[in-house]
Amino acid sequence: MKPKLVVSTGAGISAESGIRTFRDADGLWENYPVMQVASADGFRANPELVHKFYNERRHQLINAQPNEAHRILVELEKDYDVYVITQNVDDLHERAGSSKILHLHGELMKIRSISDPDYIESLDIEHLDTTPATRGRNGDLMRPHIVFFQEAVPAIEEAIDIVRVADIFVVIGTSLVVYPAAGLLHYVRPGVPVYYIDPNPASTAGIPDVHVIKATASRGLRELREILEK
Ligand code: APR
Repeated sequence: MKPKLVVSTGAGISAESGIRTFRDADGLWENYPVMQVASADGFRANPELVHKFYNERRHQLINAQPNEAHRILVELEKDYDVYVITQNVDDLHERAGSSKILHLHGELMKIRSISDPDYIESLDIEHLDTTPATRGRNGDLMRPHIVFFQEAVPAIEEAIDIVRVADIFVVIGTSLVVYPAAGLLHYVRPGVPVYYIDPNPASTAGIPDVHVIKATASRGLRELREILEK
């Protein structure tokens, strides 16, 4: 039985793929009013603008590739049972080949019925753009398959259950400001090693025994791989 390596990733792991983070300098939220383009109220008020925002991000995503950090997480599956819990809505973990991925905030390349949240469709590369008039094959009006601000995070209980059985917990590239994702750290069993890889790490005061690796995701994962191989 391989040890369970649970990894919680944020926008920082995709930064080296050229995808902007949210809160760094020139981040997405510096250029877009987050409550207009990524909240439930914003979607109700101006669905056209929200669809346009996610269309733009899809076009950026198809020109991005997984980076070394995504690939190292796949390589670690040789020796560990790796679970990726991600706040990211990009599909770079999938394209890198990770086997177990849980998206907390939805998926950019999917849309879902407004009336039936369980009806989800994948977008293909030729049809990335959606509008408020977009209908699924079942005839329903569709929306981005994204967890907007002001909406619940349906996958959080499943994520907590995974963190509870981690033998090693690694947090990569997140500012730890958005809950409930940021709270996953608190569900690690006592004595389980916790690593936090980030070039500009948020304070982890109050969380015991976090080993901070102040580095980019790729360099930090190279360092972590050496630590784990000892
Ligand atoms: N490698 C690793 N981490 C990096 C890199 C890099 N090359 N570049 C930046 N970072 C770090 C930053 O230091 C920061 O801590 O990535 C983090 C990005 O933080 P945010 O932009 O806040 O992204 P994230 O924490 O994922 O945001 C959480 O907020 O807006 C919502 O739903 C959105 O999922 C998102 C959530």
